[in-house]
Amino acid sequence: MKGIILAGGAGSRLYPLTLVASKQLQPVYDKPMVYYPLTTLIEGGIREFCLISTPQDLPRFRQLLGDGSAWGLSIEYREQAKPAGIAQAFLIAESFIGTDAVTLILGDNIFYGGDGFTRAFGESTGGATIFGYHVNDPERYGVVEFDGEGRAISIEEKPKAPKSNYAVPGLYVYDNAVVGIAKALQPSARGELEITAVNVEYLRREQLRVCRLERGFAWLDAGTSSSLHEASAYVQTIEKRQGIKLGCPEEAAFRSGFLSLAQLETLAGRIPQCEYRDYLTALVAETRRLKSL
Ligand code: DAU
Repeated sequence: MKGIILAGGAGSRLYPLTLVASKQLQPVYDKPMVYYPLTTLIEGGIREFCLISTPQDLPRFRQLLGDGSAWGLSIEYREQAKPAGIAQAFLIAESFIGTDAVTLILGDNIFYGGDGFTRAFGESTGGATIFGYHVNDPERYGVVEFDGEGRAISIEEKPKAPKSNYAVPGLYVYDNAVVGIAKALQPSARGELEITAVNVEYLRREQLRVCRLERGFAWLDAGTSSSLHEASAYVQTIEKRQGIKLGCPEEAAFRSGFLSLAQLETLAGRIPQCEYRDYLTALVAETRRLKSL
């Protein structure tokens, strides 16, 4: 399974924050936003990534994440010249995807909680897997409608009269057919290759699984000043209360077996003195202690 992180777009809703750094590089509490979706995919066992962003922002992502090797990953970069739609990612990353299945995550989507969720996308076989999340304001999203037996029967992009309260979050798991489906798409009325059109095609083929995310699961999108602030507050609350970090790629890479304990320790040692270093150092010490029991 390959992973695509889509981190382009104009970020106009966050102006003037986005004048010098793109939305997905903005801090969400104590880390850059892109750390969170990257960590989600690492937790799902994905190791090979392609990050797509604008020509002007791509160099900063490279500076932040490098080629991924320090974290036991590989990260390639591709440009999206204009924000011509989420589904364009599959055309831009076609050579990266090759003959594999692929998971696409939006660079401003934050997920927290539930091993079931990680398993659902980590172990998907064939077709497409997307999620349904109960929200108060479904008209802002792709909206999925279910029948009495819980089967998805329609998906619409930002409908004026939503048929349900279930929004489709920005994490999509597809088999290799997605590349062909994306190639056949026509731009929508707003001039974009719509991800919802990809999902509608999988639904038409009867190859779409929609997993409803359980109560208590957190899905936040950090695309506006308010939601960015709320996401930061949420992360701070959980981190302070539980003494764990959300969106920590080093920890996720270690737990997924992409980094050894010794490698994690070396990485932690290279970080300047700060809370983030203390956290990783404590993780190394605790793992050692447990091993010695
Ligand atoms: O957040 C989930 C929602 O994301 C889904 O429910 C919708 O079905 C889907 O269309 C999308 O809706 P948004 O209104 O949030 O899409 P937006 O245009 O804001 O783009 C989402 C992210 O993807 C944003 O961080 C910018 C990035 N993006 C978007 C487009 C259209 C790109 O990098 N390139 C693009 O061409």
